Amino acid sequence: MIKMTVKIFLNVFKKFNTLFYIFYNRIYLWSNNIRFGKNMRITGSVTLIIRGKSENITVGNDFTCLGELVLNNRENGKIIIGDNVFFDKNVEICAARDATVAIAGKVTICPRFILNAGTDVSIGESTVIAANCNINASERQRVIGIEMIRQEYLHAPISIGSDVWFGVGVSVLKGVKIGDGAIIGSNAVVASDIDDNAVAVGVPAKTVKFRE
Ligand SMILES: CC(C)(COP(=O)(O)OP(=O)(O)OC[C@H]1O[C@@H](n2cnc3c(N)ncnc32)[C@H](O)[C@@H]1OP(=O)(O)O)[C@@H](O)C(=O)NCCC(=O)NCCS
Repeated sequence: MIKMTVKIFLNVFKKFNTLFYIFYNRIYLWSNNIRFGKNMRITGSVTLIIRGKSENITVGNDFTCLGELVLNNRENGKIIIGDNVFFDKNVEICAARDATVAIAGKVTICPRFILNAGTDVSIGESTVIAANCNINASERQRVIGIEMIRQEYLHAPISIGSDVWFGVGVSVLKGVKIGDGAIIGSNAVVASDIDDNAVAVGVPAKTVKFRE
């Protein structure tokens, strides 16, 4: 009986907690001058790290996120999230310098995702990214005689098409273009371009067939 009562209380508390986060996050984003659309539902914590212009971050209509979201912009970095986008927990996006990170409508991103952009990165409509993936449009130079911590960065844009599917644990390196409808197998490292509708696997990712 006591356990049942506690369970009911916890369920009510959970619902209240979810509503609290949705409300709190709308106010948090609004007070930081982030533009967002209708029906934004962020049901966990958000961290904004604004070292650039807050108006450079926009979130479309019907955005859902389960929390632990980090949006980080520096200099003139822009983060643009389209309509009907879904983020699971622990999604971290950084746009620095003149980079635009453009995430199109209906994109789904599963937990523990990192996107690091010192130049443009785009993800096309309806693309699905499984857990533990990362996209890095920047990397350290490796000039001999300079400690890695002090190296400058190299940057090259990344373009990911529409209706693409990443399996778990995919890494995408700088300068890569992944075509519409492509499938990237679990734990692949994408180091060169992938054609439309290709199924690519391995390290480095190679096309093994095409969708039929
Ligand atoms: C890429 C993938 C979709 C291909 O599936 P498929 O069309 O059934 O392809 P096959 O199983 O016929 O594999 C084709 C070849 O690629 C190899 N291969 C498949 N997936 C691979 C992977 N992730 N890494 C390395 N090689 C892989 C297979 O061994 C096979 O090689 P072979 O021709 O030498 O025997 C699938 O293997 C995959 O990685 N799925 C991701 C699962 C996942 O992460 N789910 C997350 C939740 S949605």
